[in-house]
Amino acid sequence: MYMYDLIMKKRDGNVLSEKEIREMVSEYVEGNIPDYQMSAMLMAIYFKGMNSQETFVLTDAMAHSGDIVDLSAIQGIKIDKHSTGGVGDKTTLIISPIVASYGVKVAKMSGRGLGHTGGTIDKLEAIPNMKTTLTQKEFFDVVNKAGFSVIGQSGNLAPCDKKLYALRDVTATVDSIPLIASSIMSKKLAAGSDCILLDVKTGSGAFMKTLDGSIELSKAMVDIGERSGKRTVALITDMDIPLGNNIGNSLEVIEAVDVLLGKGAKDLTDVCIELSANMLYLAQKGDLDKCRQMAIDAIKNKSAYEYLKKMVSLQGGDISVIENTDNFEKSKIIYEVKSTESGYISKMNTQQIGLCSSHLGAGRMTKDSPIDYSAGIILSKKVGDYVNKGDVLAKFYTNDENCINSVEQNYIKALQFSEDKPKEEKLVLARI
Ligand code: URA
Repeated sequence: MYMYDLIMKKRDGNVLSEKEIREMVSEYVEGNIPDYQMSAMLMAIYFKGMNSQETFVLTDAMAHSGDIVDLSAIQGIKIDKHSTGGVGDKTTLIISPIVASYGVKVAKMSGRGLGHTGGTIDKLEAIPNMKTTLTQKEFFDVVNKAGFSVIGQSGNLAPCDKKLYALRDVTATVDSIPLIASSIMSKKLAAGSDCILLDVKTGSGAFMKTLDGSIELSKAMVDIGERSGKRTVALITDMDIPLGNNIGNSLEVIEAVDVLLGKGAKDLTDVCIELSANMLYLAQKGDLDKCRQMAIDAIKNKSAYEYLKKMVSLQGGDISVIENTDNFEKSKIIYEVKSTESGYISKMNTQQIGLCSSHLGAGRMTKDSPIDYSAGIILSKKVGDYVNKGDVLAKFYTNDENCINSVEQNYIKALQFSEDKPKEEKLVLARI
């Protein structure tokens, strides 16, 4: 195989064969293809695309470039869930215990936040003493006992994706549908579950900003899942507005507990019911209507809340903060952001709001910077709410008084107002 020939073939819009793609992936992981040639290939794929067979083969080869987790030591159907990321997205902490309460197992590896988006591992680590690194045996034991476990990425999963992602990041080739789909799905295939639910976020706080792009990405990922023999569904959910009211690590755990106790924000609760229903459906627990009712019941009868407590306690976390969320350490400063005008909030730049929370201390600007678990924002008003000048728009939680003025200015800039009440948008925009 000559990489030069493959680059030219793709550059000219031709289809790469299975053998060519598999050899390219293995030779790249072995270090036999230099980054400059792979960069040229990525750019050729960016412009010429890949058909569904090429995208599937690329994904499968990337998944098999490292370990494939063998989950056979876990009893029952195993389901994985992936969110493409957003602001205030604490759904994993809510839907995993809901489906676990019906015997559907979730053995999940999650990531940390970066930039404007949060990460489930950071949220879990806001719980004092919570362990997010477990041996494989400990991980499987927690899943068998609590029905679910969430840990950080471990093992040698899809090493080809690690190398390719780093290259895409610096060669302006991230936003290509076959490259995004293969990157996400290679990790999901390697993680070993039987079924996969994809939560593809769309809107100003998501990396896919348009519905059309989100639909195209969802179709590509569902196709890969099905070709790999995994039952796969994608829901396209709204990320034009932050999800729920709380942004920031411990604040999001508090809100997740509120939902599991039946007193959570309606948008977040509704999205979680829909996501859980689809996970139960994929695990063949019934039709969607039945599964929706099961999700509602698991909140009503508090069984999902009990599963969350069980998982936190098995991973060494201090469950006193789950039993009484007032026990979370509070930030020293709680600052009220007041509206400078009257009217309906008609738009929120959700990416900017996510960055505001990061700058208050909740996120990290580089991979290794420390985060303040108590920092973040509680939204008092969202799109569709009427506000009078002087009303509280949001509360900032922070331990850094120096950042407040600039973050407040950015927060206000992220909002648009109108005289008319904006049309209410759907939370789940499509199901693929
Ligand atoms: N997330 C991933 O894991 N890969 C991408 O390419 C984009 C988002």
